[in-house]
Amino acid sequence: MKSQVEKEILKLKEEKNAVILAHYYAPDEVQEIADYVGDSFYLAKVAKKSTAEIIVFCGVSFMGESAKILNPEKKVLMPDLTADCPMAHMVAEGKIEEMREKYDDLAVVCYINSTAELKAKSDVCVTSSNAVSIVKALPNKNIFFIPDKNLGAFVAAQVPEKNIILNDGYCPIHAAISAQEVKAEKMCHPGALVLTHPECEAEILAISDYIGSTAEIIAYAKESPCAEFIICTEDGVEFKLRYDNAGKKFYFPKTRPCCADMKLNTLEKLLHALESEENEVLVDAQLSEAAIAPLEKMLELAR
Ligand code: 13P
Ligand code: SF4
Repeated sequence: MKSQVEKEILKLKEEKNAVILAHYYAPDEVQEIADYVGDSFYLAKVAKKSTAEIIVFCGVSFMGESAKILNPEKKVLMPDLTADCPMAHMVAEGKIEEMREKYDDLAVVCYINSTAELKAKSDVCVTSSNAVSIVKALPNKNIFFIPDKNLGAFVAAQVPEKNIILNDGYCPIHAAISAQEVKAEKMCHPGALVLTHPECEAEILAISDYIGSTAEIIAYAKESPCAEFIICTEDGVEFKLRYDNAGKKFYFPKTRPCCADMKLNTLEKLLHALESEENEVLVDAQLSEAAIAPLEKMLELAR
């Protein structure tokens, strides 16, 4: 049975012609009530195509910001405007300019987990589900991959023909996953496959059976004939993994990877955002104009 808060969210959503988007790392009850749940790439595409008047984005600031940049005429709300991704800021001041000076033929490839300011200085955006194919498709030999060194290194290994320069940013949640804890799970569940997000350190990738974005991990687990999996990504994916796979077992490293910012998206805050329309994502018009090209280029190259 639906709670009072859930009923009010659904009613307001209808009345206001709003759509609710949630990332797989949002709390279970938020994923349950959302119209669309997915990884960063899927949600960016949904935001771009949406005909709703209001988009409520249950994720972190770079997601709400990207939705707003792709839909400048729409109202984009977030349940909690303080939900931020620390990695989104991890590029040192002046670093992009320094790299552009150094290499004539440089493409700055910016993981979507980044601020609008960083996107505005980049040539193309990528997400974890399209980074390899987009980097391959670029004509440039020299690539400065920002901000995530782990995703950058993963891409570099898949695209050896390019010179991929790494930045030193990282996701504190994925980078904290311990190889020792993953190996301990492997010892306890020797038949389980290890499914890993490319934001993890190389040491974890090396002991994994499959590496992919959250949506790719979820699809892999569903399609696999295997019945047991060790999951190396944020624990919000467990909701969808269990929903899709009644008979299968999912294990996480002992220190469960949990993104506190993603968990700020509570049902109560979602209701408040819809009611008050207070938590609006606003992006400076000039910045938005500069940041839209790399986002649009990603959507075009990934098509
Ligand atoms: P994906 O949604 O691309 O799998 O990225 C994971 C992530 O860290 C989002 O914050
Ligand atoms: Fe950022 Fe990591 Fe949280 Fe994703 S899981 S939002 S990359 S801190």
